[in-house]
Amino acid sequence: MTLPIGVLVSGRGTNLQAVLDAIAGGRLDARVVLVASDRPGILALERAARAGLPTAVFDEQALGSRAGAHSAMANALRESGARLVVLAGFARILADVFFEKLPGVPVINIHPALLPRFGGRGMLGAKVHEAVLASGEAESGVTVHRAEPGKVDEGEIVVQRRVPVLPGDTPETLAARVLAVEHEALIEAIGRFTETPAH
Ligand code: GAR
Repeated sequence: MTLPIGVLVSGRGTNLQAVLDAIAGGRLDARVVLVASDRPGILALERAARAGLPTAVFDEQALGSRAGAHSAMANALRESGARLVVLAGFARILADVFFEKLPGVPVINIHPALLPRFGGRGMLGAKVHEAVLASGEAESGVTVHRAEPGKVDEGEIVVQRRVPVLPGDTPETLAARVLAVEHEALIEAIGRFTETPAH
């Protein structure tokens, strides 16, 4: 059965685009029923609109608080019929109420490092790659994992892919190498839920 998914975004949306391309190319038996963001005017929302998808912005200031925004976002996702929520570069930590309002709906997150290392509060984008380079690790990669209330970058790992860290790497070159495997890892992870919707 085609899996209805909701996608949460905060930035440029290359992971969202990869999911849309995989669906359009028949590689993923899913359909995106809502693209939601915490901020307006981002490229990810443009990509969604270009694909003719419903979009919504849940601004914390306008809605009074993070919990208020995430509660409204969960309501919208429930109304959209989403059976899986994908955090594809979503920059906020979801309030507990988000999970409470979507019982039985798995939430997955993509993180640009090999968790459990290089995750946690504030570990976003370039900061992650800077930390990997500073550590002297020979490998980095991507982790798609279940997101759970009260936890940041923790939860059951669904898919992990590795890439080498190369001499002379900068946060930018490492980010680009990781991003290339992120897209396939995310599609593979979503695919797992299309095989076993009750995962
Ligand atoms: C991706 O690299 C994703 O792994 C990262 O944000 C980027 C979003 O790119 N997520 C995190 O750092 C979460 N902790 P995109 O908007 O082009 O998909």
